[in-house]
Amino acid sequence: MEYRSDKNSTRHRNVKRKRRGKKRGINRGYIVGAGIGILAVVVIIIFSVRGSTKGTNKSGTDDYNETREVNNSMTEEDTVTKENSSSEGSKQDNNTITENTSDGVQITSKGYKIEVKDGVTYVGGTLIANKTYPLPSTFIPTDPAQPVTSERSNTSLDKTLMENYEIMRKDAANLGLNIYIASGYRSYNYQVNLYNRYVTQDGKLAADTYSSRAGHSEHQTGLCFDLNSVEDSFQYTSEGKWVNDNCYKYGFCIRFPKGKEAYTGYKYESWHLRYVGVELATKLYNNGDWISLEEYYGITSEYAD
Ligand code: DAL
Ligand code: ZN
Repeated sequence: MEYRSDKNSTRHRNVKRKRRGKKRGINRGYIVGAGIGILAVVVIIIFSVRGSTKGTNKSGTDDYNETREVNNSMTEEDTVTKENSSSEGSKQDNNTITENTSDGVQITSKGYKIEVKDGVTYVGGTLIANKTYPLPSTFIPTDPAQPVTSERSNTSLDKTLMENYEIMRKDAANLGLNIYIASGYRSYNYQVNLYNRYVTQDGKLAADTYSSRAGHSEHQTGLCFDLNSVEDSFQYTSEGKWVNDNCYKYGFCIRFPKGKEAYTGYKYESWHLRYVGVELATKLYNNGDWISLEEYYGITSEYAD
């Protein structure tokens, strides 16, 4: 009973209230704590989400810039490659002659030395006579197989040329092919008359595409000749085909190759062979896709006027 009465006593009620109060306080504490915890988690989530979003944007932007940079550098590389590839065989590029000011030596766009001795131009050691580089009017072959005694000759050609021509002619003959020199050395004066005749016949513009002005013809050097027939049809004959495919083995090149008019300054001449030696001729032969001396050395063939 005591206990019951105690149970209902003020003291007991206060104790109960305290206990209830304690219980409520504990519950409130839990709720507040949990609330703070949840809030903290939410805040952390928000910040981490914001942070990661910001990071994504930033790195996204960086990636974009990088991509742009990469793209830009790729574009630049492409441009360089394009420039390089377009400068391979670019006629425009052949106009680029640099001068080494220390010794006055000129260098072609392909890096070959241009030397002038007694008015004769040598590029990379090869004598050049074309529309850009003329010969003196007095020039005659320096080492002819036969002395130069006339205005034109098929025997007063360079000695080494003649030796190699003979070997080529015999090899061709053994195959049943008949090749012969139709036109060899021509003097400056002979070329004056020949060119003027063509100008009268076809006009200067047309003549300049197939006949050299005096001083600009390779025929004056004694280092070239025309074979058989100076007709376009020569390229289709057995002789023409064999010469095209084999002359480099004897040190000769097709001096005015097909499709190279822009470089040589002349129409294709399947019959006009120039002696340059086996090494250079093989390079010019270019596995059957002839390139011109102008392309090889990076020089022009253009009249000044
Ligand atoms: N037919 C060549 C270009 C010359 O006249 O020399
Ligand atoms: Zn010729």
